[in-house]
Amino acid sequence: MTKGVHVKFSNVSKRFRTPKGDWYQAIKELDFEIQPGEFVSLVGPTGCGKSTALTLVSGLEFPSLGSVKVENETVKDIDTSTGFVFQHDATFPWMNVANNVAAGPRFRGLPEKDVQALVQLWIGKVGLTGFEKHFPHQLSGGMRKRVALAQSLINEPRLLLLDEPFSALDVQTRAIMTEELMQLRDQTGATVMFVTHDLEEAIALSDRVLVMTAGPGSVKANFKIDLPRPRKARDIRFSPEFIKIYQEIWEVLREEVDVAYARQLIASK
Ligand SMILES: Nc1ncnc2c1ncn2[C@@H]1O[C@H](COP(=O)(O)OP(=O)(O)O)[C@@H](O)[C@H]1O
Ligand SMILES: [Mg+2]
Repeated sequence: MTKGVHVKFSNVSKRFRTPKGDWYQAIKELDFEIQPGEFVSLVGPTGCGKSTALTLVSGLEFPSLGSVKVENETVKDIDTSTGFVFQHDATFPWMNVANNVAAGPRFRGLPEKDVQALVQLWIGKVGLTGFEKHFPHQLSGGMRKRVALAQSLINEPRLLLLDEPFSALDVQTRAIMTEELMQLRDQTGATVMFVTHDLEEAIALSDRVLVMTAGPGSVKANFKIDLPRPRKARDIRFSPEFIKIYQEIWEVLREEVDVAYARQLIASK
């Protein structure tokens, strides 16, 4: 079993240069820790810095202040044992589905026979059997997302960064992929950071839900989800325990959503 990694954000702030040349603060004093094998969701209003937080763990961006550590080492560059499923499409447009999914195992130098077996397995899991020779532009948005998921999950990463991975999927595929993700996590022990705007999804999947403040993002509240595992994502949301924790988190989240919405209204005037 792969072992998940430990992740620690210490007092992280991140500023970006705006096109006008001044600074925009996306994240402010973001501070939290994730234990190996923990599944943690980040929820918060649009623009609060959720995607930015993931890019800081991935080594694609670096903090302006504070530190992000994986296994007690400051993140300095991209680590191949980390899987990242981006919010936007990130398949290789010039490769067909099979080659897209095979990219990681090939890069690691796995024998071609094993690569092929793994590719078939994962293409099957994401429901794309028969589409192996299609190119990304010949697929729907939801199908491309499934390619991206297979492309990442096939590597059984020790740290999985998922940025709204299911939002482009239809309801059925979403349910299947949610169950797959839960199983995969249980099988591999990977640490997962999951960004979603869907609170139900966050609770169903997570060990912990972090609610972020309206931007600049920091941790507003931290909820431990003590629902028993293994969970059936489709059934769990009807249990009284689920409904109780949902209401509790939503009350906190709603305040931040309202703040973000009010700002948007002012900005659009
Ligand atoms: N590379 C960048 N350059 C400038 N501004 C950015 C960049 N990335 C994100 N931002 C800004 O930082 C804020 C947080 O963005 P993001 O992390 O994508 O939010 P979320 O994922 O929570 O919706 C947004 O206002 C966004 O416009
Ligand atoms: Mg985002």
